Amino acid sequence: MKHVIELKVNGDSYQVAVDPWRTLNEVLREDLNLTGTKLGCGTGDCGACTVLLDGRTVSSCLTLAVEAAGKDIRTVEGLAPSGEELHPIQEAFIEEGAIQCGFCTAGMELSAKYLLDRNPAPTEREIRASMSGNLCRCTGYDKIVAAVDAAARKMK
Ligand code: FES
Ligand code: FES
Repeated sequence: MKHVIELKVNGDSYQVAVDPWRTLNEVLREDLNLTGTKLGCGTGDCGACTVLLDGRTVSSCLTLAVEAAGKDIRTVEGLAPSGEELHPIQEAFIEEGAIQCGFCTAGMELSAKYLLDRNPAPTEREIRASMSGNLCRCTGYDKIVAAVDAAARKMK
């Protein structure tokens, strides 16, 4: 039997009828058409599906949609302050060449936001530790770390 739930995504409210076993990742991508959030491993190992739930990073592939009901969900589509400007984290990823295939990028950027919201001037070691749950199969880690460092300086 489906449950009718309210999902608050990037400040917008959606009423959706979902089967209790469907993941937040499935509902974001398939029901709400918010395909910026990617699905990689589906088992909580790669971080490609990372979203913010009440300000904390979660793997949307391991989070049931019903668990997210009523909570504040932020996806990469909500990262930029407007549809016309990029968020400083997104700008820095472009400027530092931190995007190759782009599959990990949304998750990386949300993990970076989680870090920079709590630690506005992280060391390289702190960036690497904080981003360690996000895997990049293109292996562009040095540029990703440089982008997070550059974003921190932009956001000062
Ligand atoms: S797709 Fe969720 S952690 Fe890999
Ligand atoms: S840019 Fe390709 S997986 Fe990271």
